[in-house]
Amino acid sequence: MRSDIINLYKKADKKGFAIGAFNFSTNEILKGIFNAAVKMKAPVIVSMSEGERNFFGCNESVGVFRALRKKYPYVILHADHTKSFDELKKVVDAGYPSVHFDGSELDFNENIRQTRKAAEYAHMHNVFIEGELGGIKGGSTIHRESLKDVLTEDVFTNPVQAEGFVQLTGVDSLAISIGNAHGLWKEQKKLDFDRLKKVKQKTGAFLVLHGGSGISSHDFRKAIGLGVNKININTETRVAYAHGLLKALHKRTDYVPYHYLNDVVDAVSKIVEEKIIIFKSEKKI
Ligand code: G3H
Ligand code: ZN
Repeated sequence: MRSDIINLYKKADKKGFAIGAFNFSTNEILKGIFNAAVKMKAPVIVSMSEGERNFFGCNESVGVFRALRKKYPYVILHADHTKSFDELKKVVDAGYPSVHFDGSELDFNENIRQTRKAAEYAHMHNVFIEGELGGIKGGSTIHRESLKDVLTEDVFTNPVQAEGFVQLTGVDSLAISIGNAHGLWKEQKKLDFDRLKKVKQKTGAFLVLHGGSGISSHDFRKAIGLGVNKININTETRVAYAHGLLKALHKRTDYVPYHYLNDVVDAVSKIVEEKIIIFKSEKKI
């Protein structure tokens, strides 16, 4: 499985598209992502953070993923923002084919030490691993604050450190901080393209952009052109889900969930389809 995933990233890098990675914590969100990917013939990553996995069930998510892959083998299940070795071991042992070890809250050397240990375990089990250097602030929700309050110089990825980090940890891809933060904020996110260019030049690694909600299509396209290979989206689909659910509940004429939940699934699909077009991953299976 790891080599198939690496080949997909190589294809994205070569053909100039980004793989969309969408988080889910409910079956309706997962269905929305899946339907959009199938309709658009796009490879897709479905992600679960620790909180999302705890809610949905770690083994349950693997079971559903295996069933979905039988219908459409271009979907990859990914464990997002995994912050400890124990949690990483849990998802690898459960059957996740791709994981993100997030040591960004640790100091540089400790992040290297723990990420290397995580990478060794993942690779031993044929699992793809993403590391993280630099802080990606905030949670996947709507924030009242301004981005300026959280994006201090120390959270940005240092290109020279990134080169050492990739070499010493052996990760397959790297999540970077270049003006991105999780969630929707008072103002639109602005990416630091010079920094992105330098990180790509120094590392030559597959790069991951977290905090995709609230980034303009122009910035996405430019970031993809400069070597971003995977883009994570969560808040925008969470908002679509919540608003879609409120509307569907209001409109419903009975108490049969499958009569009104399809509108919720479609509300999520709409966002995913829009992103797939921006990421240029349509018809890339
Ligand atoms: O790991 C998940 C993503 O980074 C989601 O970020 O909530 O800003 O879309 P977002
Ligand atoms: Zn993230």
